[in-house]
Amino acid sequence: MAPSPSHNNADILRTLERLLKVRGIRPLRTGVRSLKESVSSNHAPILVLDPTDRGAGPPPSIPLDHFLTELNQIERAKTLPRARYYLDRLKRSLVEVNTRRINDINLNRWKEYKNILTDSLWLLDKRDGSGGHSAWYWGNFVPQIPQQLMLRYTKSGEWVLDPFAGSGTTLLECRRLGRNCVGFELQASVARRVRRGLKGKQSEIGTTTLGLEVGDSRTLNVRQILHSYGAKSVQLVILHPPYHDIIQFSKNRRDLSNFRTAEEFAAQFGKVVDNVTPALDPGRVLAVIIGDKYEKGEWKPLGFMLMNEVLKRGYKLKSIVIKNFEDTTGKRSQKELWRFRALAGGFYLFKHEYIFIFQKS
Ligand SMILES: C[S@@+](CC[C@H](N)C(=O)[O-])C[C@H]1O[C@@H](n2cnc3c(N)ncnc32)[C@H](O)[C@@H]1O
Repeated sequence: MAPSPSHNNADILRTLERLLKVRGIRPLRTGVRSLKESVSSNHAPILVLDPTDRGAGPPPSIPLDHFLTELNQIERAKTLPRARYYLDRLKRSLVEVNTRRINDINLNRWKEYKNILTDSLWLLDKRDGSGGHSAWYWGNFVPQIPQQLMLRYTKSGEWVLDPFAGSGTTLLECRRLGRNCVGFELQASVARRVRRGLKGKQSEIGTTTLGLEVGDSRTLNVRQILHSYGAKSVQLVILHPPYHDIIQFSKNRRDLSNFRTAEEFAAQFGKVVDNVTPALDPGRVLAVIIGDKYEKGEWKPLGFMLMNEVLKRGYKLKSIVIKNFEDTTGKRSQKELWRFRALAGGFYLFKHEYIFIFQKS
């Protein structure tokens, strides 16, 4: 972004430093008012002096209205220590980056991350169609899911593992956000199509390594595969398995959608967790995306069954996110019929799925 021609950030910074030394609340308020007037006379955003945008946002400049809101808060502060606290925070947001070990979120500018969800209820409007995603694969997830997980739980350049890669939504999102990714997928034909889609396309942020291996996630040699891509371990695992037999992905008997009972399905899922866990760095996140199903008129809580499989392996549960679930094309055309069936049968129609967030101890 080209520097604003008329905001002199060094001047703004000097003013904030000078205000930090003012000894009374009244002169400080007067100083803040005059800074507000001077920055408002020019409508450009305030440039951050040390821009380090690494894909997680916020942009390298602070919008003018946000800067003015911060100045208003300082002006309204009741005591000098409070006003200084806000002032110091604003000054630091211009010159310092404060990130934690597991993501690139600059906590000195936390208010600007409006795009990152922190609530346990995700009401996503519609599928994000940008970034090369197309919804050709029945049973895929919306790109916002891996996107949100990566922004919260990885830094740029880290490694993500997706053992149920399907149409490669996670891989595409990794490319967009500058994360490296390895996916596993049982169906060779699906993997071939994904590889074609990924060919020749570069990350928008730096260069990323994207790998897709065909095989059974319960038994693939994870370490060896990672090593072949130049990675020692991964920093995030995203597991989006079949929702048992709701969709039969293939006729392959190793396909998790082909196990006879929900209990067997959950046990096989546990084997995938066993296989990938050694590759995940301690303290990092393993996320499971899954919905429930009905079986012989009874609600089968696949989500909680898989949650228990992961907990058995010593992970710590950090969050259970409920995400809204749109009607499938098939169900949409029979909406009335399903409503009638629900009323007659005394059950509820699925409108949500789960995103379980676990931390490896
Ligand atoms: C719910 S889909 C994942 C969809 C993916 N998140 C996307 O956005 O396209 C589950 C995938 O797991 C694959 N699968 C089933 N059993 C598997 C196994 N044992 N190992 C690896 N992949 C498997 C299926 O072929 C299917 O593509």
